[in-house]
Amino acid sequence: MAAKAGGHAQILVIHGPNLNMLGKREPEVYGRQTLKEIDALLADEAARLNLSLESFQSNQEGLIVDKIQQTVGQASGLIINPGAYTHTSIAIRDALLLLDIPVVEVHLSNTYKREAFRRESMIADIVTGRIVGLGALGYILALQAIAERLQQQR
Ligand code: DQA
Repeated sequence: MAAKAGGHAQILVIHGPNLNMLGKREPEVYGRQTLKEIDALLADEAARLNLSLESFQSNQEGLIVDKIQQTVGQASGLIINPGAYTHTSIAIRDALLLLDIPVVEVHLSNTYKREAFRRESMIADIVTGRIVGLGALGYILALQAIAERLQQQR
């Protein structure tokens, strides 16, 4: 397990492109909650679970790769919604392969109910688990799943 900040395991949440527009972006698909509201829910749940949480959003693939690289040896778990990069990014896949911690892939929408290209995920076969179609609740469930895994490692 990675280093702990103040005794709490560190969990990183990465939100990919266009997720900063939640609330305004296709609300019929993604709901009306903003990213700030989702991050606040995650922060509350992390506090309840005695985890330390950092949320990061970027519209740029390279910055997401940089962030994943910086996670090596630092975080004990990662939640990632790569947005559209899910379907295209070998660079994000390769960066995730550096990690030796639980990684949960989350999608707000049920990507299987949508266009065919959204059914493909470049990371589905290398993550610990995936949650799709449950909106913001998916992130909370991902955090709980990571907490459970970390408990088991103790
Ligand atoms: C998404 C699904 C992707 O297909 C899309 O490009 C997104 C959001 C989701 O959370 O449902 O940006 O990852």
